[in-house]
Amino acid sequence: MPAAMPVVIMISGRGSNLRAIIDAIDNKLLAVRIVAVISNNAKALGLEYARLANIDIRCFNQGDYSDRESFDLAIQKGIDHYAPELVILAGYMRILSVAFVHHFQGRLMNIHPSLLPEFPGLHTHQRAIEAGVTTHGASIHFVTEELDGGPVVLQTRVDVRKIDTAETLAARVLVKEHSLYITAIRWYAEGRLVLKNDNAMLDGKKLDEPIQLDNPE
Ligand code: GRF
Repeated sequence: MPAAMPVVIMISGRGSNLRAIIDAIDNKLLAVRIVAVISNNAKALGLEYARLANIDIRCFNQGDYSDRESFDLAIQKGIDHYAPELVILAGYMRILSVAFVHHFQGRLMNIHPSLLPEFPGLHTHQRAIEAGVTTHGASIHFVTEELDGGPVVLQTRVDVRKIDTAETLAARVLVKEHSLYITAIRWYAEGRLVLKNDNAMLDGKKLDEPIQLDNPE
């Protein structure tokens, strides 16, 4: 069997996506190896999952750097040390510098809790409710310079209920986020999913529309 693809995961907080990825690897649903978890927040709760799984942890504190560029460069070097083939943003809550994004172009993936291009940025669930949409969800995309703007690969949809609050809606989206991310990472690790000339390609074909997986495995 070929060696599992090395990946780095970046988090800032709760880490439920990180935990889901660790569980999928343990359950042999995903053939990647998490070589490090990186955080901009040494107090991120999700770091506990990395500790329990004996994964290397590296924390970087923005206050130790004069600007975003030098901060991101330090993180970039920290990641390069592990030579990952994919860098997975899983609730990493800082905007990345252009140089960082360019450096990892094509091997930098993010999950965003909305049906992009709707609701980029923060507070997506509250904004979806206020906008009165009946369908909401989550998207996986390759990261480009534009915030939450890179080519979307996969989406999963969730019906918005009249009684939903941002919390209840977020909880239903989150469950689906986990399996959606695992599917995307698996496809990437299998070489099926790539970024080519700024286009997401699956099995050699350009994705003109994101793939909708309403019941991801
Ligand atoms: C998720 O909703 C993800 O879509 C967004 O940040 C949240 C992270 O959650 N980017 P967790 O830290 O993985 O639990």
